[in-house]
Amino acid sequence: MDAEKLMKEAGKAAEKAYAPYSRFRVGAALQMGDGTVISGVNVENRSFGLSNCAERSAIFTAISQGKKDIRGIAIAGPDAWEPLPPCGACRQVISEFCPPETPIYYDDGQGGFITSSVGALYPANSLMDMAEKKA
Ligand code: THU
Repeated sequence: MDAEKLMKEAGKAAEKAYAPYSRFRVGAALQMGDGTVISGVNVENRSFGLSNCAERSAIFTAISQGKKDIRGIAIAGPDAWEPLPPCGACRQVISEFCPPETPIYYDDGQGGFITSSVGALYPANSLMDMAEKKA
């Protein structure tokens, strides 16, 4: 699946966001190695600090389904007015499962998207035994 299609999947997912406090909906879509797409949304809470970002929701869903082979990540924010790269916490979680070359596409807030990668957004990360973890 190409980047544009994956961004569209992320945009569709964003409609399901639970964001009554920020009114800022986010959707994430993961391109999986088996050809499927797994999506996630931000889920907020009245105790604000408990809110979960779309990217982590998607990754936790993938892992819960027994799938770890993430080949690409798209992040869409229909309410964004500026670029929407993943937050620091999500970059750390993404780096647990994705090698540096994994592409990350994120909303540019202007109707388009920016292409980056795990390595560009989270450099100097130890890969440790990633190959083993992916197995
Ligand atoms: N949010 C995400 O889900 N992903 C991002 O990349 C940035 C922020 C969510 C968290 C919160 O529910 C809302 O957007 C406003 O920050």
